[in-house]
Amino acid sequence: MTATPLLAPVQLGGLALRNRIVMAPMTRNRAGPGDVPGELSVDYYAARADAGMIITEGTQPSRHGKGYARTPGLYTREQLAGWRRVTDAVHARGGTIVLQMMHCGRIASHHNKDADARTVAPSVLRASGRMFTDTAGLVEFDTPEELSIEGIRATIGEYAQSGRAAQLAGFDGVELHAASGYLPMQFLSTGTNHRMDAYGGALTHRLRFVVEVLEALSEVWGAGQVGLRICPGNPFNDLRDENPVETYEALLRTVAPLNLAYLHVIRSPDATLDAFALAQACFAGPRVLNDGFDFASGNAAVAGGAAAAVSFARAFIANPDLVERFEGGWPLAPFDRKTLYTPGADGYTSYPRHAR
Ligand SMILES: Cc1cc2nc3c(=O)[nH]c(=O)nc-3n(C[C@H](O)[C@H](O)[C@H](O)COP(=O)(O)O)c2cc1C
Repeated sequence: MTATPLLAPVQLGGLALRNRIVMAPMTRNRAGPGDVPGELSVDYYAARADAGMIITEGTQPSRHGKGYARTPGLYTREQLAGWRRVTDAVHARGGTIVLQMMHCGRIASHHNKDADARTVAPSVLRASGRMFTDTAGLVEFDTPEELSIEGIRATIGEYAQSGRAAQLAGFDGVELHAASGYLPMQFLSTGTNHRMDAYGGALTHRLRFVVEVLEALSEVWGAGQVGLRICPGNPFNDLRDENPVETYEALLRTVAPLNLAYLHVIRSPDATLDAFALAQACFAGPRVLNDGFDFASGNAAVAGGAAAAVSFARAFIANPDLVERFEGGWPLAPFDRKTLYTPGADGYTSYPRHAR
């Protein structure tokens, strides 16, 4: 390893990273009609290709998985072609890019979705809270339909199908978003999963959906190309779990034989547990740690063995050249909150590189 741990290359399963500075997934709501990533997204990701690995914004594997306005999908020919231009541009600059697969489940509004799309969840429990829509402003979350067993199988099939599309689109791998209160986490957690069948009730049943999705993606990709993102104990999006330590210890021990490329762990200030310690105790493979790191604390996490790599989200928004800025000890530019999720180039591709 070089004197600067974050700048050293690393292998995460089958993914070769030229440094350990990972761009964390960020929803930026810039997809065009048909939820297709367009030219702006090509420029946005290409400008950040110096990262050891880019994890894309959460991308719905089917129309049912969409929750928010203007998020991209990967289940149509047009979406595949759009993503192909993104991955080509990142690869042309020597980068590595994986697709984050995000099925929002009940954290959705029909105002943001196609007319024939459904809002589904493990149980018929509406999340309290509201979300932004382009057509109706702030609205309550949908009341979800309970997925039948056939519906669960179909949903797992959608992940697999979208995983295949990700291969055709030239991605280097995929990451399952099982954090932030979306569908996989809804299955894992006692507050959102009131089922009493093979996918709910007993702890092993609550784990089943996530395990089966990971198995399906591993079949498509090989597990060395599949990552998993978790945030144990995070109450975000009206999520509650009676015993998150037990849930996530069991989950990580259950997925261990798959030999996934990496585990991406977010620590949440709102959680009552130590997510990093839990991950270190229960997941022997490469760990990518997230939330609130800077260059110094990221280097310390790698040097101390807690992390194989560290991911940065907000720092990448206004600093497309984050890796160079870290290397040069240059100041980081602040980002503008108002343009985080608005359409267009402003606040997306408008942030300049540091003057040399
Ligand atoms: C604008 C924005 C959008 C985000 N969208 C996603 C997302 O699509 N998927 C995801 O897993 N996390 C998402 N996150 C969470 C980040 O990946 C990350 O966990 C969080 O910002 C903490 O990392 P940081 O301290 O480096 O910013 C988002 C965060 C921000 C600021």
